[in-house]
Amino acid sequence: MKLSKVILTGAVGVVSLSMAACGGGSSSGEASGGGGEQTVFKLAFNQTEEHPQYHAGEELGKRLEEATDGRYSIKVYPNEQLGGQSDVIQNLANGTVELMWVGGPVLESYNEDFVVYNLPYVFDSYESQMAILQDEELNDDLFHSIEDKGITVLAGVHAGIRNIYNSKRPVTTPDDMAGLKIRVQQSDSQVKMIELMGGVASPMNLGEVYSALQTGVLDGAENNEPTYDAIKHDEVAKYYSYTKHLMIPDYLLVSTKALEGMDEADREAFLALIPEIQELASSEFLDYAEESKQHAEELGAQFNDAGAAAFKEKLTPMVEEYMSANEARQTIYAAIKEANQANPA
Ligand code: GCU
Repeated sequence: MKLSKVILTGAVGVVSLSMAACGGGSSSGEASGGGGEQTVFKLAFNQTEEHPQYHAGEELGKRLEEATDGRYSIKVYPNEQLGGQSDVIQNLANGTVELMWVGGPVLESYNEDFVVYNLPYVFDSYESQMAILQDEELNDDLFHSIEDKGITVLAGVHAGIRNIYNSKRPVTTPDDMAGLKIRVQQSDSQVKMIELMGGVASPMNLGEVYSALQTGVLDGAENNEPTYDAIKHDEVAKYYSYTKHLMIPDYLLVSTKALEGMDEADREAFLALIPEIQELASSEFLDYAEESKQHAEELGAQFNDAGAAAFKEKLTPMVEEYMSANEARQTIYAAIKEANQANPA
């Protein structure tokens, strides 16, 4: 049963009213504005306090506290304090962490169809990606498909454009990738993508990448400018090359157990806040990317154009193969093409 449908129809079958009081695995016990106990949801985040998703998480907490008369609030744990994404998501699924931001590829191990938004050169523009992520009807089945595994997807947000960076040389053609050991997020699609681009893929959690670059276990990675700069990869891999190969969303996840444990009015108030948080996290990202690039340049990073067309050509058959695997993916792919036409680069 999909939670959104339950909420919309007002059915209470899955709602356990007692859980809000006992905190549903969250830390609780502070006095709330209403004079009762406050439930504090933990929000796990793998990056710094400067990141738009950190701000958006804090803002969600403030607005939630107001909307529930102090019965709920959120504490954001940045910098992988609660662990790397692929570990934290298991705790979210079992309800010991209530909220997290996660990169799209991590969700592929729960439902492979999430791959549709993680494929190279799929979105032509920020506006196109946002139009798709904000289309609730289009995403309804996908976003609720892993609730039986304990995970509810609240929203997808824009998380920049990913490019290749490394410590050896500027990449200007696929040939320059030869022999470069490149970190990817943990999914088969990401491994396959780097192989087709000409490199050697190595999946790992973000927090392990800096030292792997420093010791030479990795030659490079692929990410947006904010991550490159904020996690200080620009100190150890100074060639940042604009392959522009990915525009992968991040998702705000809530533990299905925690969501079901909220009393109905509080849960509705919480869910009503999500669209504005989605907008906030996404739009703030654009300036943040520009500032991060400037900061990395000041530190000596070298940015170059990598001629995306040659990479795109190598990756197109992969995209077609993944997108045509079933009807659900075909429907989403058609919608993306329409969104691209309406919102060109
Ligand atoms: C981006 C993305 C994160 C992801 C990270 C990564 O920064 O926003 O969600 O974890 O890339 O490459 O692991």
